[in-house]
Amino acid sequence: MTPPDLTLLEQAVKLLEEDQVVAIPTETVYGLAGNIFSEKAVSTIYSLKQRPRTNPLIVHVAALEEAIPLVKEIPSPLLALAKKYWPGPLTLLLEKSSVVPDSITAGSSKVAIRVPAHHLTQPLLQKLSFPLVAPSANPYTRISPTTAAHVEYYFGSAIPLILDGGPCKLGLESTIIGFENNKPILYRQGALEKEIIEQTVGEVTIYQNKTTETPTPGLAARHYAPTTPTLLCERNAIGAQLEEQCAVIVFSEAIAEVSVEQQFVLSESGSLFEAAHNLYSVLHEVDRGGYKKIICEKLPETGLGAVLNDKLKRASSPLNPHQ
Ligand code: TXA
Ligand code: MG
Repeated sequence: MTPPDLTLLEQAVKLLEEDQVVAIPTETVYGLAGNIFSEKAVSTIYSLKQRPRTNPLIVHVAALEEAIPLVKEIPSPLLALAKKYWPGPLTLLLEKSSVVPDSITAGSSKVAIRVPAHHLTQPLLQKLSFPLVAPSANPYTRISPTTAAHVEYYFGSAIPLILDGGPCKLGLESTIIGFENNKPILYRQGALEKEIIEQTVGEVTIYQNKTTETPTPGLAARHYAPTTPTLLCERNAIGAQLEEQCAVIVFSEAIAEVSVEQQFVLSESGSLFEAAHNLYSVLHEVDRGGYKKIICEKLPETGLGAVLNDKLKRASSPLNPHQ
């Protein structure tokens, strides 16, 4: 692996120390990063993303030891997960210590923290004397960026630096796990599958959002969404939905009656890992391709397939009036 470009890293450090916002690569998706203690950087992130201030920001640190001062405690099942999967696509929702500013948690007593695994962002975090908030680098409800070009498209002229770390290895957000009633609870499905987490902590419940008035952070109904109307469909129902100028995204096997120009295959070998890696990139491409409608084939409902279906369901959900 080529060593990180020091001049770019140094530039990122300097900008972040000056309360500016820098786009950073992670193994999941790109983030819009700023100093967690800088009200200026935090406000800039909210306004760039057009994200309501009621929706808190996720914190990134270089290692587990750096998360300790930011929280009251780490319940032992979650600590076991952190030890096993950090650095990696796992975010823990924990009771925050007084060190963490209320402005980044939207007044909540809890903070979401993760340790990203990326050859540029790891040394960046190690060089900084403060943690970074870094929500995904996309405007509110839009598709998360998995390449520097996606970030450039959204925010190119508005931010001073995009650290280009290549295409994100996983291409899907981190999994968010909290602890309620003495049990781990899954708030957001993500790149670390529920089944894998359960190997360490036993059965995990998926959080059910009970209110429609105030969407629970990470669970907004419409999310990860293309601007083109999008439909999630069983394979055998796709035929009836076909119309001119629609794009069809399939898992592994092309549909004979759909033309090559209209059809996008996520993984020819049928790998859910590869499909996850490609999904957002394909959505970005298709969304800008001038199609009138996007039809996505429902993926096998296991492991990452279930996670991708969850994202696609949110991408195809009608616009929620509360957002
Ligand atoms: O993989 C990831 O997690 C990426 C990369 C850049 O690290 N980040 C990311 O950030 O996906 P974001 O903001 O797009 O998604 C984090 C989710 C949001 O829906 C936010 O509402 C929720 O986590 N969240 C953050 N802090 C929280 C808190 N204190 N309580 C509840 N939910 C929180
Ligand atoms: Mg996001």
